[in-house]
Amino acid sequence: MIGVFDSGLGGLSVLAALVQALPQADFRYYADTAHVPYGNKSDEQIQRRVLAIGGELAGMGCDLLVVACNTATAAAVQALRAAHPSIPVVGVEPGIKPAAQETRSGRIAVLATESTAKSARLHKLIRDHADGIDVHVEPCPGWATHVEMLQLDDPALASDIARRVEPLLAQGVDRIVLGCTHYSFLAPLLNQVIGGRARLVDVADAVARQARRLSDHLPHGGGRLHLHASAHPERLYAALPRLNLGHLAPRVA
Ligand code: DGL
Repeated sequence: MIGVFDSGLGGLSVLAALVQALPQADFRYYADTAHVPYGNKSDEQIQRRVLAIGGELAGMGCDLLVVACNTATAAAVQALRAAHPSIPVVGVEPGIKPAAQETRSGRIAVLATESTAKSARLHKLIRDHADGIDVHVEPCPGWATHVEMLQLDDPALASDIARRVEPLLAQGVDRIVLGCTHYSFLAPLLNQVIGGRARLVDVADAVARQARRLSDHLPHGGGRLHLHASAHPERLYAALPRLNLGHLAPRVA
């Protein structure tokens, strides 16, 4: 059984890739909807939530954990690994490395929550994998909350996306890293602004491949999905079709 969690709906983008890579596995998805968003919280607050959820999922029999949240990974993946040394933990980090390898202009940007944008982990990732590349880090407060409220048609969101992304394109950025799992659901809106001038970089498939490697030894499941949320669990199921993930609904146990 694979436990996957996020502050809310964002990690469902990673879950979709995991289900595709491991169709026979059983999953538990936990959305911390009582505490979303994480992006404006302190590292200590995020660590407390990550340890509580990781403990709960381990207690429910999960033998592999996927932290489907860049913010939680940056603030707390080390603490989670230390708390559960016998359980493999896969984190999600912005795709700086693929973006730096693929860019032609030598200019890339990362869209992230405020917490991830200022995290030591992101800045180390940039130092380690984007030597000689111009990396612009753009914090995007409020975007995850729009996804969470399923307010994807809100004109205020569309104009904030344009306001943040247009200047990046004007500077010649040709790879834009989705540094928050919620932003995968904003890809259509982002691509409307980008209009072919840059490519989005999403690591969901790479995370799923890593989880598949680490799950080799796990017993096969029945392809079931258990949904949990710290508030309004019913909204999680209802959100699936709204996020174009209706194909996951028949798996829900
Ligand atoms: N989905 C999360 C991430 O990847 C966090 C969004 C939030 O709760 O602020 O960063």
